[in-house]
Amino acid sequence: MCGIVGCIGKNHGREYIINGLKTLDYRGYDSAGIAFLKQDSISIYKDAGSVEHVNSLIPIGEDGDAIIGHTRWATHGKPNKSNSHPHISFDGEFVLVHNGIVERFAEHKASLLKQGVTFNSDTDSEVFVNMIALFYKEEKNVLKAIKKAMETVDGSYAIALIHKGENRLYVLKNVSPLLIGIGEDFNLVASDASPMIEYTNKFIELGDKEYGYIEKSNYKIFNFDGQEVSKKLISKDISLVRHDLNGYPHYMLKEIEEIPDVITRLVNHYYLDEKYNFDDELIKKIKQSDHIIFLGCGTSYHASLVGGRYFEEMLEIPTASYIASEWAFHPMFPGKKPFIVFISQSGETADLIHCLNIVKKYNYDTLLITNTSGSTLERGCKYSLNIQAGVEVSVASTKAYAAQVAMLLLLVAAVKGEAKIADEILRALPIIKSIKDKQNDIKNVANIIKDKQSIFYIGRGYDYYLSLEASLKLKEISYIHSEAIAGGELKHGPIALIENETPVIVFFTDNVTANSMRGNIEEVKSRGARVFVISTKELSKDGDTIIIDQYPNYLSSIIVSSVAFYLAYYTSLSKGYDVDKPRNLAKSVTVE
Ligand code: F6R
Repeated sequence: MCGIVGCIGKNHGREYIINGLKTLDYRGYDSAGIAFLKQDSISIYKDAGSVEHVNSLIPIGEDGDAIIGHTRWATHGKPNKSNSHPHISFDGEFVLVHNGIVERFAEHKASLLKQGVTFNSDTDSEVFVNMIALFYKEEKNVLKAIKKAMETVDGSYAIALIHKGENRLYVLKNVSPLLIGIGEDFNLVASDASPMIEYTNKFIELGDKEYGYIEKSNYKIFNFDGQEVSKKLISKDISLVRHDLNGYPHYMLKEIEEIPDVITRLVNHYYLDEKYNFDDELIKKIKQSDHIIFLGCGTSYHASLVGGRYFEEMLEIPTASYIASEWAFHPMFPGKKPFIVFISQSGETADLIHCLNIVKKYNYDTLLITNTSGSTLERGCKYSLNIQAGVEVSVASTKAYAAQVAMLLLLVAAVKGEAKIADEILRALPIIKSIKDKQNDIKNVANIIKDKQSIFYIGRGYDYYLSLEASLKLKEISYIHSEAIAGGELKHGPIALIENETPVIVFFTDNVTANSMRGNIEEVKSRGARVFVISTKELSKDGDTIIIDQYPNYLSSIIVSSVAFYLAYYTSLSKGYDVDKPRNLAKSVTVE
């Protein structure tokens, strides 16, 4: 969580920092701050609230030779002004912005307090800046002080640091991502490429435990042993990095409507000239395995449930899907030759990194399904498949979910050698597009449910997995309590909650379970529930709320998820919430 940006030698640097922070605020948005370095003076502006708010605190004309900025998702300490970054050292010499977590920070803080260091915030980041300042007093050399701090502190960090009187911007990194953007007579730094892509397409990816500095027309990077390393320049696919609203009122709406293009791009990438385009060794390893273990969180976990069903039904390989934060504390490896699949849009989710560290001890083969190349999980997994969804800005995941499921399906199709599946995905695209025309019906449902206390989603089979995702999406952005219940489970308890006018949203697209599900619909109706049925043509009845053209059953999560996403979107909108930035959340969850 948290986004950092920095620049040196950049004309209109303030503009880059402000726009950069707005671009990165999907990483956290409860407070923001900026520090300007001009020779030996540093000015800091920060507060709880938005980047726009902080910008309004900065005097017109304020600019700096080096500037650093931060947008925060609070981990240690409330979102208020003193806990906002940048943080200044006790002696006023160093200022930093930090994304990550300092482990055992209370211990470090206690030791620094004993040495006479004073603190102004409750954050772990302030420990870092004070430690560097203290080591500098002994070493008289910033790089040595940084190295010493890195040797002392365990944890994750992407840090940009300025030092009074030096026209330089120092960087250090472990676990949390940090990129340097190389310009003509200026250099940039940011948590990811998106804020920098307007200005350069030459990047350096800092490795773990690397540190160094950027100057106007120079940079140097060192490894943990203090040796200078020569870094490869990389470029990024601009269309996958850049994000703007393109006329949409919200990223979430834009991203829902991008799903058909995302799926097209994905199929065209992994299915070329009527042949699947996957690493042969990966396919072989999957074929040789006797169990697939999926690990994911939230939406990605929901995608893994659908993927598990694909592997079991189409390949007859048993699977187990686990919530990463649960599995990490009692790891299970069913089978003799398990193959581990991590699913993570961001590739930075701390719970999954925890799991990966466990898996590494066993030497099992690992695959990551992700939207973020170069991420921590990608670097740690043996194989990686990119879902090609482009940056997903809205905190609520939509296009990434559809793409994760489609990716899993293509992988299974490739292992099976079944060309028909890729064709069927492409044939279903007009059906996904047609959901856009059903928005008015979806808005009507949103207007009915928006003032309810509690909502239920029910379904069986694929529809149950979709219910889980639909329910998460609704609660995440509309703050309405909602629950997903497998149709058959209703009478084992949850039906007690159904009373007059309780909204029940039914996904009714699974042919295999249709007869049983019809019974469940009647059960809740007869207890007074206000039922909204989303059905496919073959299963539909008069009075259903949304009827979707027929498609092969297994495509349900890819197609019908758009209905769930629109419903969450319009419900949140009708309640006047910030759809793209729901309270208490952040896009990449880099803390456990
Ligand atoms: C919900 C959502 C989250 C993420 C979860 C895992 O809309 O986006 O539930 O799916 O935090 O994130 P990744 O996929 O980045 O590991």
